[in-house]
Amino acid sequence: MTVLISSLRINSARMLESFSTLSLIGSTGDGGVSRVSLSESHLAARTWFRSEVENAGLEFHVDSAGNHSAILPAFALAGEVAQPTGEIGLSQKPLLLRASTLLIGSHLDSVLNGGRFDGALGVVAALEVLRIVKENGIRLRVNLEAIDFTDEEGTLVGLLGSAALAGRLNPESLKKPRGGRQNLVEGMKRAGLDEEGIFKATRPKDSLAGYLELHIEQGKRLERMGINIGIVSAIVGIRSYRLSFIGRADHAGSTLMTDRADASLGASAFALAAREIVMGSFPNCVANVGKMDFIPGAFNIVPARVDLCLEFRSPDAEQFENLDAALMASAKEQAGRFGLELRSECFEKHVPNLMSSGIQKTFADSCNDLGLTHTSFASGAIHDGQSFDGICPIGMIFVPSVDGASHAPRELTKWDDCVNGANVLLQTALKLAG
Ligand code: GLV
Ligand code: MN
Ligand code: MN
Repeated sequence: MTVLISSLRINSARMLESFSTLSLIGSTGDGGVSRVSLSESHLAARTWFRSEVENAGLEFHVDSAGNHSAILPAFALAGEVAQPTGEIGLSQKPLLLRASTLLIGSHLDSVLNGGRFDGALGVVAALEVLRIVKENGIRLRVNLEAIDFTDEEGTLVGLLGSAALAGRLNPESLKKPRGGRQNLVEGMKRAGLDEEGIFKATRPKDSLAGYLELHIEQGKRLERMGINIGIVSAIVGIRSYRLSFIGRADHAGSTLMTDRADASLGASAFALAAREIVMGSFPNCVANVGKMDFIPGAFNIVPARVDLCLEFRSPDAEQFENLDAALMASAKEQAGRFGLELRSECFEKHVPNLMSSGIQKTFADSCNDLGLTHTSFASGAIHDGQSFDGICPIGMIFVPSVDGASHAPRELTKWDDCVNGANVLLQTALKLAG
C-alpha cells in the first residue's frame, strides 16, 4: 500500500469520541472538569488514557514521574537490533537502538473547576496522530510518543513531569511546592509515586528529537483576527511568591484607626500598586494576586497578618527580573506605609523560552499545505515545552478559544478548530519524523 503522506488527516469522529469520553471524567456538570493533579479524577483520566493506548495497539509506558505515554516505535532497518535505549519507564519495552523520540504531548490534569480543552485536547490529538501513523503503516526514523505530563497546572508544583523527564526538576520544588507539601505527599501516595524515584524519570538528552504540543490559545487574539492557527514564538517566564504582611491583632471596635497595624491595608495597597506597575512600565507582562488569607480572619479583629499569593509573567528575561525587583520594592514600600513587617517566600520559577525557529517554519508550511491561516505570538500561559529549553527543539501551536475563556468551565474551542490543529500537528510530526 502506498500512502501519500501529505494527504493524511486525523480521524475527526474518533478523536471527538475520545475527547467526549475524557470530558466526562471529573466533569463539573456545567461543561468544565475538575481534575487537579493526582486527585482521584485525574488518576481516573490517566487510567482511561491507558486503555485508549492499549486499544489502539500502541505501546503503553508510565515513567517514575507518573508521565503516561503511548509509543509507536521507529521502523527497524535491516541489521538494526531492537534493544532498550535506557531506563525510560517502569514498563519499558525494547525500542530501537539508534532511534530518538519525538514527543508530542500535553496534560490531563486541570485547575480546580477548569475547562475540558486545556491540556486534554493536546493529549487526545497526540494520541490520534499516533493512531493515524500506525494504521497507515508509515515507517518513521524516530519513535513517536504521545505523552500526558504529570502536574502541568501547578496545583502542586507545576511542569513537574516534564521537568523530571528533562532533568530539570529542582528537589526544593518538591520540598516546598506552591500547592502545599501535604497535598503533594497525599497525591504522590495516591498515584504510587516515590519522591526520590521521580528524579529517575530523566532521559538522556540525545534520546529526545523534539517536543510538539497543540493547545487552545486561552486568549482572544486568534478569534479577533479570524485566524486558524497561532504558532507560538515564545513562552512566558513565571514566578510566584507568597507575601506575608504582618501587623497586630486588635479589637476592631475600640482601637483607634490611627493605632492599628492592619495587615489588610498593606496587602490591598500592594495588589493595586502591582497593577499600576505592570500597566505603567511593563506592557508585555502580567501580574496576578490570586489569593489573600486573612489571619485570624474575623469581623471584629483587626487582621494580624495577610498571606497573599502573587504570580507574574513576562516573555522577556531582562524585563522579568526588572518586574520582580519593582514588585518586591513596592511590597516593601506598602508594608512600611502601614507599619507592617513583610516576609516573602519565592516558589518554583520558570524562565521565558523561545520556540525553535525550524519547527515554527515547519508548522507554517503545514498550515499552508492545509490551506489554514496562521500567525505568530508569545504564549502568556506556561506549558510543558519550556522544560525542554536547551534540551531539544520545541514547537507549539494554538487553536482559537471562544471568547478567550480558559481555566473556567465556559472554556470552548469549536471542534473544526480542534481538528485543524490536530491536522497541523500530524503533518508537522510527519515532516519532522519522516
Ligand atoms: C497553566 O495553565 C498556567 O499558565 O498557569
Ligand atoms: Mn494547559
Ligand atoms: Mn491550564
